[in-house]
Amino acid sequence: MNILAVTAEIFPLVKTGGLADVAGSLPKALAAFGVRVRTLVPGYPTILRALPEASVVRKYDDLFGERAKLLSAQFDGLELLILDAPAFFDRTGGPYLDVHGKDYADNWKRFAALSAVGSDIGENGVAGWRPCIVHAHDWHSALSLVYLKYGRQPDIPRVLTVHNLAFQGQFPACHFARLGLPDEAYAEVLEYYGELGYLKAGVMSAHTITVVSPTYAREVMSPEGGMGLDGVMNARHDDVVGIVNGIDLDVWDPSRDPHINYPFSSRTPLKRLGNRKDLLDHFDLADRNGPVFASVNRLTWQKGMDLLADVVDEFATRGGMLVVHGQGDPAIERKFINAAQRYPDHVSVRIGYDERLAHLIHAGSDAMLVPSRFEPCGLTQLYAMRYGCVPIVARTGGLSETIIDANDAAVHAQAATGIQFLPIDHAGLRHALRRAFKLYRRHRSWDRLRRQAMKADSSWERSASQYCQLYSRLLSKEEEFRRTA
Ligand code: ADP
Ligand code: GLC
Repeated sequence: MNILAVTAEIFPLVKTGGLADVAGSLPKALAAFGVRVRTLVPGYPTILRALPEASVVRKYDDLFGERAKLLSAQFDGLELLILDAPAFFDRTGGPYLDVHGKDYADNWKRFAALSAVGSDIGENGVAGWRPCIVHAHDWHSALSLVYLKYGRQPDIPRVLTVHNLAFQGQFPACHFARLGLPDEAYAEVLEYYGELGYLKAGVMSAHTITVVSPTYAREVMSPEGGMGLDGVMNARHDDVVGIVNGIDLDVWDPSRDPHINYPFSSRTPLKRLGNRKDLLDHFDLADRNGPVFASVNRLTWQKGMDLLADVVDEFATRGGMLVVHGQGDPAIERKFINAAQRYPDHVSVRIGYDERLAHLIHAGSDAMLVPSRFEPCGLTQLYAMRYGCVPIVARTGGLSETIIDANDAAVHAQAATGIQFLPIDHAGLRHALRRAFKLYRRHRSWDRLRRQAMKADSSWERSASQYCQLYSRLLSKEEEFRRTA
């Protein structure tokens, strides 16, 4: 079975968050089920530099008025198709934002171009290879499903995965005329509160919509979780499926992680102490022998990082430490910097984005804080469990179903894998921290909790098989439709 995936990020080549991790690991998991995925990605400078041997498989003379090439290459077990379009992707900033943190003004066109090429590959194949399904991720590639729906082969099965409804790709309606779609596409799928909604159009054009956890599949149907799209999601209710993310067990393996000096497993937990020392050294903290809490996260409202910054006194008064690594909202960054100045012996912050440091933090800290106000799936808590770093999470979205709360019954049954809290506010978080301090002091309970977390199965296997079944269902439906047409 051949699948074309279209995504704006892919680990390890370009990553701003979990989308990249999923796009980079799901194809490998699907390969075990006989599914061959080729992934179309934008030709950002970092990607082109990493793939000097890529070969040209198609040329475009007029892609939204620009010249472009489609390249093919393999990297780290991934089969990539790269849209080398310098006018759109050869920029000095990040994938979506310029160096000043502002959206590129032509994002509507950059990702329409990526999507148009995705649709072209879907319809015409490339270099003798033809996908039987096109699978788009998030708003950046959602238009590929729209181009296919209104194209020459509207039967090609189309799948959209929504990783986060908060990012919808909304643009002024005046750009519609430049998208090269038939007039009816505006009213039928693209129009969104008088503007263009790329994610909305993808939801309207996909045969199946997946979201990244079953809980999130329920949440997106509500006004609060739907973020303006709940009406549309409800209209597609029967075609929405929640499939929880897995993690790449090779990239996140504490027993052979090249980013840490003291590899360990659930049988050698004491080796974590070496990583603890490295971690505290890195953050310029003296070891006070209490629990080390951590956060590796986008510093945003979604992630509840303002809540965490407001309760740092808990760490100081209870004899714990907090290390924070992340970047995002400047006001939240400032809150953490101030907190570290107020409690220099207990709180330390490194603003930035560093994959290597993320691994050390998981390997050296005792608990990972994920106080998200909403969380479609969340990967940090899954990495944390594998590294024996107990997750403390808000009870929402994928966090609520991937972590089993350490209530007395679950601890004794050896089922607990972390701590959950509700309500998602200051009081809820403070209460969770107090529970964590208490459990940490009962060494045997904490040990049991940590060992149980390390045993949790966060592999892709089950979820990849669900994607596989979904693809097979779509293909048999398509065949049935062809036979009866
Ligand atoms: P989201 O995609 O919403 O940001 P996820 O939990 O799904 O949340 O994925 C976040 C990914 O980004 C994880 O792999 C996490 O380790 C990584 N990450 C987030 N912030 C940083 C950072 N400052 N440095 C390194 N990795 C980070
Ligand atoms: C999004 C979500 C996150 C999810 C990730 C990968 O960024 O915010 O919850 O884990 O996508 O699906």
